[in-house]
Amino acid sequence: MGRLLIISNRLPYTIDRSGEDIVVRQSSGGLVSAIKSCLERTRAQSDHFTAQIWMGSLDASKEDWKILNDMDALESDFSIEPVFVDKEIYDAYYNGFANSILWPLFHYFPSLVEYKKEYFQAYKLVNQAFADALNKIYQPGDVIWVHDYQLMALPQLFRQYQPDAAIGFFLHIPFPSYELFRLLPSEWRQYILLGLLGADLIGFHTHDYVQHFIQSVKMLLRVETQYNSIYYNDRIIKADLFPIGIDYRKFRDAITDEAVVTICTRLEEKFYDKKLIFSVDRLDYTKGLDHRLKSFEEFLERYPEWRGKVVFIFNVVPSRKVIPAYVDRKRKIEEQVSTINGRFSSLDWQPLIYRFNHLSFEELCALYQTADVALITPLRDGMNLVAKEYVASCIDKGVLILSELTGAASELSEAILVNPTDSEEVATSINTALTMPLTEQRYRLSYMQKRLAEYDVKKWINDFLDQLAFVKGEQDKLKV
Ligand code: G6P
Repeated sequence: MGRLLIISNRLPYTIDRSGEDIVVRQSSGGLVSAIKSCLERTRAQSDHFTAQIWMGSLDASKEDWKILNDMDALESDFSIEPVFVDKEIYDAYYNGFANSILWPLFHYFPSLVEYKKEYFQAYKLVNQAFADALNKIYQPGDVIWVHDYQLMALPQLFRQYQPDAAIGFFLHIPFPSYELFRLLPSEWRQYILLGLLGADLIGFHTHDYVQHFIQSVKMLLRVETQYNSIYYNDRIIKADLFPIGIDYRKFRDAITDEAVVTICTRLEEKFYDKKLIFSVDRLDYTKGLDHRLKSFEEFLERYPEWRGKVVFIFNVVPSRKVIPAYVDRKRKIEEQVSTINGRFSSLDWQPLIYRFNHLSFEELCALYQTADVALITPLRDGMNLVAKEYVASCIDKGVLILSELTGAASELSEAILVNPTDSEEVATSINTALTMPLTEQRYRLSYMQKRLAEYDVKKWINDFLDQLAFVKGEQDKLKV
């Protein structure tokens, strides 16, 4: 039995310093919430590993990190290994290559990609810095699990140090079709694909993403593949499908949590005669927020009978604030919100409640439980855990309207699936959701809940790690 080393760009904490005060906040995004839950769960059932370590970059100084560590302010289910990177290089890697090249391209926004050589250089430097940091703590027998698009070169860079290491990689965003992927300059795309092939097992959320990856490997590297196996450098590498789950129990337990119940009661008292629609997303162009608002406006236009009777609680969480493509969105969305409120509000009713802030876990659960409808309509999303969390939280009512362009749509087929660019379809679906009989709501929920309970985050981690052990075993047989 060895240790589990999880490596992701983002650690579970974001540290903000204002003057003398240091504030520690849980980071947002699907990756952090999933890994955090899975580390808590594996520790609780501690059968697999002797220790769990999470390595990632930290947006704080070494001094602040030391203060926090001394204060014992962090969790104890796992230990944290921060990687400190020079600020300028980190910016070009994170805001540049990761979020102005890979993120838009992999989410089918090629026109937003900024092809800058210095971004690529920074990506290489930071991935190398992670490989060096990992090599310092690595011990034979450790299992390495690298996460997401910010660290796609790390598996190969680390394998150069430790040829026999067990390395898994999981991509939390879509892998785009070959036609999109090939837009990257040839040196960059080779570097990324070869980087990934340093892993023994490469996981994706959906079957399509697996196929896209394998096709890119075949077309661009000309290596031999058979089904999901890739034969490269005398190694067999497996690419496979592992749709990420949520911590289902945690959301069910929240139903009886005192703090959550208090917020629910407040919401129910305030909106006792209204239907509630809810959404929560990071501020990101991939989330289709402007299309969503347009659809809601169209709904109010087409179905005037709902005016005064429905409120849309529209939560946006700040994200990647310095990237131009993100800055503009905020202004646009805020204009749309005030246009809709200005156009439809009466003296005692306002259709949209807009918040631009982080939500606590308790607030989030209370909103999930109270909302009659969740309107989750990204233009593209690797999985989308909000949709799953909403379904898990519903008690005896609730309708999910979900974009068919999310990974989650292939598992949540009892949701009302929509094309987010079709505002007429979305507007009609809102009306369908609001008028759906309770029996049908419960019936649809029960199917989805059963699936989510069975394939939860623990099952996801176990499946991935079991498969990794299996692939490693097969490779060892090849060597004999
Ligand atoms: C997505 C990505 C994660 C990322 C998260 C938040 O879920 O897949 O890798 O951590 O967004 O984005 P951020 O840029 O704040 O880390």
